[in-house]
Amino acid sequence: MKTNILYGHDILSVDQFSEESLQLIFSTADNMRILVAQKGGDECLKRTIMTALFYEPSSRTFGSFITAMQRLGGGCIPLQGVTYSSVAKGETLADTVRTFASYSDVVVIRHPEIGSAKIAAEFSEKPVINAGDGTGEHPTQALLDLYTITRHFPTLKNITITMVGDMLNGRTVHSLAKLLSIFQGVTLQFVSPSILRFPEGLQKKLTDRGVTVRTFERLDTALPETDVLYVTRVQKERFTDLDSYEKLKHCYVITPKTLEHMKKDAIVMHPLPRVGEIAMDVDLDPRAVYIREEMGNGMYIRMALLKLILLP
Ligand code: NCD
Repeated sequence: MKTNILYGHDILSVDQFSEESLQLIFSTADNMRILVAQKGGDECLKRTIMTALFYEPSSRTFGSFITAMQRLGGGCIPLQGVTYSSVAKGETLADTVRTFASYSDVVVIRHPEIGSAKIAAEFSEKPVINAGDGTGEHPTQALLDLYTITRHFPTLKNITITMVGDMLNGRTVHSLAKLLSIFQGVTLQFVSPSILRFPEGLQKKLTDRGVTVRTFERLDTALPETDVLYVTRVQKERFTDLDSYEKLKHCYVITPKTLEHMKKDAIVMHPLPRVGEIAMDVDLDPRAVYIREEMGNGMYIRMALLKLILLP
């Protein structure tokens, strides 16, 4: 049997992944898909407890981590919104994390500040999984996004991924772009208004790794080449000036007309939630995978991660 290189490890950033670890996670996720279809789950994580410590709103990440743990026979401490915990009394992140690390076997954390998951991991004796640290990273979303892409483009050879929307603040964009840079021959196209441009330092990292990067302000120019259209929400919670958010929120809206300019075998993705940037009637197009595949893949990926981190 192959050694489990993830056992006991934190998941803090996509920088920690290699082709080898991705292969392990994706093949385990494939097994989870079969397991759920056949039996709904198993008991491999019986008497194992996960804390889900969410300082920011979440539906899919929170819900899929909880169900992933339960499908593997484990239990959860679900803390969604910290209003009713001691955080509301002013407790520090360090003390909160140490508390829940002493009760449970793994801590999943979402927090508004960049670097918060790393700080949590420094204080936790148990593995910590970053479920989003401000505008920084969202590694488990990037894993489920890449998993979804590889189910359509298994080799990732010469594919063009176009990311559109809030390139500046979107942590899913930052993580997925970095994760894709592991692979040779990937082209990334970033489409955004100039004030929501992809961060320059991060872009340099990508080009240094050999990724071809193109930036656009207009979506139509980027469409014909596109294999994967990754649509994102303008991140309202990162704006101090809500007037400019209102002006920008619908800077790009994907409609069935948009898809007329795309390849027949392209796919359209969105980490969700969407707040108007993809029209509802796009859902009917067979290329739209955000509801049919992407969100469900989140559960299989998180089942795989929990199993790999918690069992040798
Ligand atoms: C994303 C997030 O929280 O960064 N949501 C998610 O986890 N699927 C994307 C977003 O909120 O726009």
